[in-house]
Amino acid sequence: MRKLLTISALMLVVQIAVNCSEDPTFDPDGIHQASDGPTPFYLEVPANFPDYFLDKDKRLTEEGIALGKKLFFDNILSKNRNVNCGSCHFQSSSFSDPRVRSIGTNGEATTFHSMPLFNMAWMNEFFWNGRAKSREEQALKPVVNPLEMDLSWDEAVSRLQEHPEYPVLFEAAFGTRTIDSNLVAQALVQYELTLVSANSKFDDWLKGEYELTEMEAIGQAIFNSERGDCFHCHGTVLTTDNLFHNNGLDSDEDLKPGLYDVTGNEADFGKFKTPTLRNLIFTAPYMHDGRFETIDEVIDFYSDSVQNNRNVDVLMEFAFQGGVRLSPFEKEALKSFILLMTDSNFVQNPDLVP
Ligand code: HEC
Ligand code: HEC
Repeated sequence: MRKLLTISALMLVVQIAVNCSEDPTFDPDGIHQASDGPTPFYLEVPANFPDYFLDKDKRLTEEGIALGKKLFFDNILSKNRNVNCGSCHFQSSSFSDPRVRSIGTNGEATTFHSMPLFNMAWMNEFFWNGRAKSREEQALKPVVNPLEMDLSWDEAVSRLQEHPEYPVLFEAAFGTRTIDSNLVAQALVQYELTLVSANSKFDDWLKGEYELTEMEAIGQAIFNSERGDCFHCHGTVLTTDNLFHNNGLDSDEDLKPGLYDVTGNEADFGKFKTPTLRNLIFTAPYMHDGRFETIDEVIDFYSDSVQNNRNVDVLMEFAFQGGVRLSPFEKEALKSFILLMTDSNFVQNPDLVP
């Protein structure tokens, strides 16, 4: 009797296995019916990172992410159907652009250097001057920007609506075939949130899994002390304080408005968003206007060429003497430490591109 039961149980298992492989909607638990809508995707917080700054009800789904990825790399969103988000945010450049300025749909150059895109779940303000206060607000801007994609949202939406695939993909992701700009932005953001870079030797070191070489240890001490003074703004595991500072790039005559353009507050004149120092090896040229071609040039600047302009940040304590004045050896050591923040897997991960 028992044997018979075992056999019939086995047959049941086989039967279920067969059903599963034959019928993709078959679900023995009855929980994941196709009609339940998109498949939830849980964004993992890397072990050594703080919890991300997302609304806790923010729901990522496999279908939303896939749609966002398709949109990100589709020329359909540009006026002349010749550029997409990825034309100025290349994976090989950590989703930044090796050109000083990027070229938009009309062949014109952007105002600023492109920014790398990753770890956006740990940011709240976007663009060099912080003019977007949410990821969704940011995602709406490149499409209509005349120097970038130069397409009205009306036109963008009707192109997508008439496309053979997009209405179906929006239905899979959001439960509706009626496309609007907010859903496009939400899909783009879902994809962007999956661009997480946390797999560098710097992370291994923070987790106690990597021991610094003598040179890197000297660089670390310079970075995280008054000697180099980098930690004040590029501290923590994120390597940015997510704030806006005037780091003394320009003299009073050459000062660019930066955050002032958004707030109209004179104290914000010359302040720009503190960029991450992760993946620098892939993101040259540097600063909002791409003025420095190499990491050495950046370090030379902080060491010897800081301008004591009228708004220079109080944290740039050595601005009065042109910078922190590092020796050539200290500069090399500092660079070796910064280069530990390199995540080569991120720029090669095939899952992040179509
Ligand atoms: C023609 C080039 C170009 C195109 C196309 C483009 N971008 Fe950008 N992107 C830039 C530049 C340049 C900046 C920095 C501009 C600034 O601060 O004013 C930027 C900044 C950003 C930022 C801000 C990052 C941060 O850390 O604050 C995000 C996010 C972004 N782009 C996403 C997108 C998305 C999504 C698309 C497609 C809908 C897109 N970009 C299309 C050039 C481009
Ligand atoms: C007062 C805050 C502050 C301090 C201190 C500071 N930085 Fe910065 N850093 C910034 C800001 C703000 C920017 C962007 C400035 C811009 O583009 O106008 C920046 C830009 C950079 C960039 C360019 C990154 C990119 O993607 O373009 C590098 C590299 C850098 N800093 C390294 C350092 C190093 C190394 C130190 C220490 C020697 C340091 N910073 C000290 C605020 C600071």
